[in-house]
Amino acid sequence: MAKILIIEDDQVFSELLVMHLEDRNHEPQAATTMEQARQILADNVPDAILLDQQLPDGFGIDILKEITEHTPHPPVIMITGVSDNRLAIQAMGLGAHDFIRKPMDEIELETTLNNALKSHRLSRQIFAIKGDKQYQIDIGQIVGDSPAVLEICKTIGRIASRNAPVLITGESGTGKEVIARALHHHSRRTGLFLPINCSALAENLLESELFGHERGSFTGAIARKEGKFEQTIDGTLFLDELGDMPTSIQPKLLRVLQEGSFERVGGTQTLHSNARIIAATNRDLKAMVNAGHFREDLFYRLNVVHLHLPPLRERIEDMHLLTEHLLAKINVKQHTTVKHLAENAWRRMKEYQWPGNIRELENILTRAAVLAPGDTITLDLLALPGEDGQKINDTEETGQARPLRIISLDELEQEHITAILAHVRWHKGKACEILGISRPALDRKIIKYGLDL
Ligand SMILES: Nc1ncnc2c1ncn2[C@@H]1O[C@H](COP(=O)(O)OP(=O)(O)OP(=O)(O)O)[C@@H](O)[C@H]1O
Ligand SMILES: [Mg+2]
Repeated sequence: MAKILIIEDDQVFSELLVMHLEDRNHEPQAATTMEQARQILADNVPDAILLDQQLPDGFGIDILKEITEHTPHPPVIMITGVSDNRLAIQAMGLGAHDFIRKPMDEIELETTLNNALKSHRLSRQIFAIKGDKQYQIDIGQIVGDSPAVLEICKTIGRIASRNAPVLITGESGTGKEVIARALHHHSRRTGLFLPINCSALAENLLESELFGHERGSFTGAIARKEGKFEQTIDGTLFLDELGDMPTSIQPKLLRVLQEGSFERVGGTQTLHSNARIIAATNRDLKAMVNAGHFREDLFYRLNVVHLHLPPLRERIEDMHLLTEHLLAKINVKQHTTVKHLAENAWRRMKEYQWPGNIRELENILTRAAVLAPGDTITLDLLALPGEDGQKINDTEETGQARPLRIISLDELEQEHITAILAHVRWHKGKACEILGISRPALDRKIIKYGLDL
């Protein structure tokens, strides 16, 4: 039997919770306002607290702050209908035990509560040291209300202020960089967030970008240059496309991770870095380790905390919030005024597999918004490929010669790249394979022709 305080202004929901807890031989007590909760807490400390966010006289998160300032404190489980993930990150960062979204089922509540009571009993003697961090909640926003996204947000809340490296995996366009930025944003780090794309630079340039170089260390090194590790004092270094990091640079990275020290290219002076490292990849690093393309020791060193972003097709529940968020963003950026999606367009969007994930969703919505004559996106504007994919070349089978078109090579290239990207639905890796060019080359052409709207 445990004493459980319910802080919830919805009387019906609160009574349901009381009944549920009494059935399980607990001793529930209900407060409907923050004030009432404070009075109860002043008299006796419960074994666990169930806390709502929206209360008549304030926000649950504020009372959470008051509760977790004292050590030891009872475990707090936030139960809220608020779908903003920043709240989950914030709550976990402030020391909430867990975060449940309404509607929830009895099993979820029971499991979470039992875990909370158990870990509270075990950890009564262990006090967490809390700083006086102020959370900003305007950037670092992760949109989505699927269980997978909520789990990721909870982990971000738990680990943001730690120094351990983080490995983010997921298909292209799933939001790996969004997660990395949110992690930095919610950390205590005062320095910069510096991204570096390991696939976009040639081997020696990447090494010098990361570690810097001394004057004259190679042809073209006309002056000493500071590397990203030097620039990221108290900040976060985001190693994007880590799977493409050449094996020759991997030992140097391992050393920074192990000892925090490195030398500039061509230099002898040992420098130190306290940058937090977040790495991202859409490749299977474990398979690369097995194939000898990625160092095993480096893999384990980077894989201390692993966040995996499932593809959009596996978290289709996120589509609604994402579409709303992206359309609002597109309307501002493109000066469009889209307010609605036709019902059949929405149905098709939910069935579609989204191989290019959220980036593809954003591209498709941008194109549709720009082309929409009114404030509604219709099915035809989405131009999503059919079940069996789009035919790239409709005249291929007809045997007829195509009429000569008087256009420049650049125009032809732009058209072809646009068509291939549409065909592979913005899966850049597949586009590179078809076009026979490298990922950096494709990225340059996308920028050159302004294809990424
Ligand atoms: N949860 C999210 N909430 C809001 N926007 C998102 C979210 N996830 C992704 N996006 C948007 O989708 C696009 C792709 O995200 P991002 O660049 O982080 O993906 P990625 O996994 O790093 O892709 P790649 O592997 O191709 O580099 C961005 O424009 C980003 O703003
Ligand atoms: Mg990325």
